[in-house]
Amino acid sequence: MKSLSLRMQRSSTQFFAALSAKIAQLQAAGKDVLRLDIGSPDMPPAPHIVEAMQRAVADPRMHGYGSHKGPLALRKAWGNLYLRLHGVALDTESEILPLMGSKEGIFHLSQAFLDPGDVALIPDPGYVTYAAGANFAGAEAWFMPLLPENSYLPDFSAIPGEILRRAKLLWLNYPNNPTAATAPKEFLAEAVRFARQHDLLLCHDAAYAQVGFAGYRPPSVMEIPAAKETAIEFNSLSKSHNMAGWRVAAAVGNAPALKALFTLKTNLDSGHFPAIHEACIAALTGDQEWLDERNEVYRQRRDILLQGLRAVGLNPLTPQASLYIWSPVPAGQTSLQFTTALLENAGVSFTPGSIFGQYGEGFMRIAVSSPTDEVVEAVQRVKAYLGKTGG
Ligand SMILES: Cc1ncc(COP(=O)(O)O)c(C=O)c1O
Repeated sequence: MKSLSLRMQRSSTQFFAALSAKIAQLQAAGKDVLRLDIGSPDMPPAPHIVEAMQRAVADPRMHGYGSHKGPLALRKAWGNLYLRLHGVALDTESEILPLMGSKEGIFHLSQAFLDPGDVALIPDPGYVTYAAGANFAGAEAWFMPLLPENSYLPDFSAIPGEILRRAKLLWLNYPNNPTAATAPKEFLAEAVRFARQHDLLLCHDAAYAQVGFAGYRPPSVMEIPAAKETAIEFNSLSKSHNMAGWRVAAAVGNAPALKALFTLKTNLDSGHFPAIHEACIAALTGDQEWLDERNEVYRQRRDILLQGLRAVGLNPLTPQASLYIWSPVPAGQTSLQFTTALLENAGVSFTPGSIFGQYGEGFMRIAVSSPTDEVVEAVQRVKAYLGKTGG
């Protein structure tokens, strides 16, 4: 076979593909594994969403190519979400672009903006697709440390001038994966100011925007006046509406940036399955109260995990939002050593913090998106394992 493209030679398989293969092997060998590693909601979407999908699938008109922008009703539904939750009006033609999951849009945005020599400013630890997208484009990633002492917010003043001159994209993500940190609106305002000052496209990833506990509602960057001049926001139904497998999301905000992403997408996809768009409209416009009930289930699981971790001497912060707990690993081991040993010996899978960047070392990410009885069982296994190893 001829050699792969340079882009592919720079790319590697993402951690979860390898982890899933390893877990499948353990399961084939008879091991019972509890997966609290990935943030994939275990509960289904509300019945009215599934019913809308069933009706749409039975409709003979739904089986051709969809349009790249999705139907107007879908863009209106995303627009109404922003109006309802954030008091922000978006133009349905130029300021809302439906996506096939936000991962798709995040990766492709980098292809639309970055060339070799360009820089993307990326949080560390951070969602790995920001760096994967920059890497694929042949651009440089400059990592902004997210440190506990700064409440996991980046320090813009630490970015060197030479890097800033070449930087085009500034990635932020709150509620944050993997640290579960949240950002006050004042920080988002500072980010908008900084992006305007340095002519950056601020890309705010709001994948966890509707997973908040005890009444906490994360702000949108679009709430900041003038955000549209310099920012886009990625939003997704994966976590907010338990629809991760459906691949539905949207990018909103800065019209020229969305136009570039749209142009790229017209070259590589042919629109989403129209029936999924119908279900997405039902998700966005139908009853939303079930989200509070769902969030309450996550809060209960969060508290079971926090109690268990604290009982074994680990002291994670209490997250206000997202699907994750960001916990220190026991002293004397790397995050990969500890999570691998826990998986192999106790059958509990957590994500090592180091896969999210160098500043993730020393931590592990634990997801609350597994059934509550499995969360309870995982806590018991962790306690028993650490009791045995003196960990
Ligand atoms: C921070 C963040 N952004 C984006 C995504 C991608 O979500 P999706 O492609 O399902 O919309 C994820 C998924 O885990 C995530 O954690």
